[in-house]
Amino acid sequence: MASELIERAIKYVREKFENEFSGHDFFHTLRVYKTATHIAREENADVETVQLAALLHDVDDRKISPETYLQQANARGFLRTNGVDDERAEAICKIIRQISFGANSTAPDTLEGMCVQDADRLDAIGAIGIARAFAYGGNHNRHMYHPDIKPNLNMTKEEYVKSESTTINHFYEKLFKLTAMMNTEAAGRIARRREAYMREFVSEFMDEWEGNK
Ligand code: ADP
Ligand code: NI
Repeated sequence: MASELIERAIKYVREKFENEFSGHDFFHTLRVYKTATHIAREENADVETVQLAALLHDVDDRKISPETYLQQANARGFLRTNGVDDERAEAICKIIRQISFGANSTAPDTLEGMCVQDADRLDAIGAIGIARAFAYGGNHNRHMYHPDIKPNLNMTKEEYVKSESTTINHFYEKLFKLTAMMNTEAAGRIARRREAYMREFVSEFMDEWEGNK
């Protein structure tokens, strides 16, 4: 059972993301929260800290809330209003900064941060990851696949942001690399299973594309 504080945090993010239809909607947050909880228990991390950081990880996202992201005003406001002491609130905000700002630049320096980062990355792979990738591709008018557009495995950050690559290429350019980036053993196990499922999907996709099946 979730504590009363966690129940309030769930309600808070549900309201916050009510009109958000990007890849970072309420259900993304809820999945990250559930997966992060699972990982935290296996890794013996502080479960409630992980849960709060997971639930609040996108409420000050630069794309979603540009006016609050620098000061993390939404996360801080929620934590203060709900009686979380300053030291703990600061630890939670630090986890959120480490997993979001500048994407891969800062590795989390606490076990709790590692659990949340792993859960956030796990949401990009497996069946959900496949669905999110094609939803993203549809939104951005990308080809699902194009035989003349090859994956670019060594893109700089600028190239990655500007890239007009296909959705199938995204699997090679990003999604298949995530397993090796997991911080925790528990997440590594989940990632390996999800990656195998995605590889099978891509292989099936190519067979059908070529009329082999
Ligand atoms: P995050 O901020 O969590 O790294 P992104 O905004 O990069 O997330 O991506 C959100 C979702 O959209 C993820 O599931 C990701 O795999 C997918 N996505 C991002 N870029 C692409 C792309 N070029 N092609 C297909 N899917 C993408
Ligand atoms: Ni996220």
